[in-house]
Amino acid sequence: MTGRERRIRTVAKGKYFIDTFGCQMNVNDSEKAAGLLEADGLERTGTAQGADVIFVNTCAVRERAAEKLFHAVGRYKALKKDTPGLKIAVGGCVAQLQGKEILDRAPAVDVLVGTHNLQDLTRLLHDARQSGESHSALDTKADAFSIPAEVVSHSSPTRAYLTVVEGCNHVCSFCVVPRTRGREVCRSPESIVAEVRSLLDRGYHEVMLLGQTVNAYRFGDTDFPDLLRLVHDADDRLWRLRFTTSHPEHVDEKFARCFADLPRLAPYLHLPVQSGSDAILADMRRGYTAREYLARLAVLRRHRPDLALTADVIVGYPGETEEDFGATCRVVRESVFDGLFIFLYSPRPGTTAIRKPDDISDAEKKRRFKVLNEQQQRQQRSRNQGFIGQVEQVLVDEVAGGEAKGRTPHFRLVHFDVPDDTTLLPGARVDVEIRDAFPNSLRGELVPSLN
Ligand code: SAM
Ligand code: F3S
Repeated sequence: MTGRERRIRTVAKGKYFIDTFGCQMNVNDSEKAAGLLEADGLERTGTAQGADVIFVNTCAVRERAAEKLFHAVGRYKALKKDTPGLKIAVGGCVAQLQGKEILDRAPAVDVLVGTHNLQDLTRLLHDARQSGESHSALDTKADAFSIPAEVVSHSSPTRAYLTVVEGCNHVCSFCVVPRTRGREVCRSPESIVAEVRSLLDRGYHEVMLLGQTVNAYRFGDTDFPDLLRLVHDADDRLWRLRFTTSHPEHVDEKFARCFADLPRLAPYLHLPVQSGSDAILADMRRGYTAREYLARLAVLRRHRPDLALTADVIVGYPGETEEDFGATCRVVRESVFDGLFIFLYSPRPGTTAIRKPDDISDAEKKRRFKVLNEQQQRQQRSRNQGFIGQVEQVLVDEVAGGEAKGRTPHFRLVHFDVPDDTTLLPGARVDVEIRDAFPNSLRGELVPSLN
């Protein structure tokens, strides 16, 4: 019996549905919420219709986050007619940022739970059921790591997320995260290693350590490279160790050496650059110039020449000239990224950039997005073509309808057919020969394992 089956017990007290917006950290928070609701006797359902609890886990990083929430609540509110006891809970960054304004604007919301208060979710739901009124907990000083590891109901059968740093101490001019998630709080290395072991006990082979700036981790004398070594060496059952998101400021020799020294550390790094213009980077308060960013990539690649890199970029930041944008295109070209997440700048409440006029039109932001995206897609396609003929080790994420997909150690997405006489389950490690390449994925054929 799995942990989840044990928690659900035989008679469920109802069903819950979770709607998650945003990053892996939000996915991990939803996994914690799912575990809490299951421990309370509820059973997961894949549709909002018929659910007794709906938890909307919000993201405030980009504009219209609140609008998205109110639209979602509008849809879910209508379900209260068919399921009279239905309770709607809202969590995540929009809940933290907008607070009780949400209850004024959307009285159908029964529970508001802040980014550090998830552990209160089921208590608040009980209170709301008993009183018939809305209840909230929005205290960013509460302990964000108080939910026991055994409670978390992981959503992927292969890759387990583990948040090691909450919050962010950086002050990027455009970013709402420091406001919604507060200052950095790190978990102790002992508790992290213990949780990794418990994930391995539960059959996971790949662990992804999470934090908004995960490589800023520090607990006493233990910094992030120390933590990577501790986790890496903790248990041989770990096949792959990953982490995200990293900040260039905390990339140094010691950090880069981990990619050379730790064989089970995946050769993949997400390192947001945001812009290639020094003027814009300074205004964004990123703490590095374009040249310094490229120098850090060089250090990383000296230690691990095949390191796969991806990044985030913002286009249309206030005052971004055509020259600034050109500099971004150049830095992106020189960086040779495996993937790029391009965002159109959007002003966020409580950030310093909101005081600047949002002077690049939407049409121009979209044009810049298109130009940069086309450049990146061309580069990715030709880079990916270089993998044709290679055999890649793939950790299978999904199997359906005779097809499977999974990730290589470099986090490249690979699709392949599953022969009729082969039984394959998520979590398997297989060898796939690459036959075709696209900008964002590879396609291959299963070959007998070389191991
Ligand atoms: N911690 C990460 C880092 O070191 O940069 C990023 C966290 S942020 C939640 C994810 C990405 O969203 C950022 O890297 C940035 O590119 C984008 N982003 C954040 N605020 C934005 C805004 N106001 N407008 C557009 N994109 C934004
Ligand atoms: Fe946001 Fe910058 Fe921190 S992008 S999450 S303030 S590193």
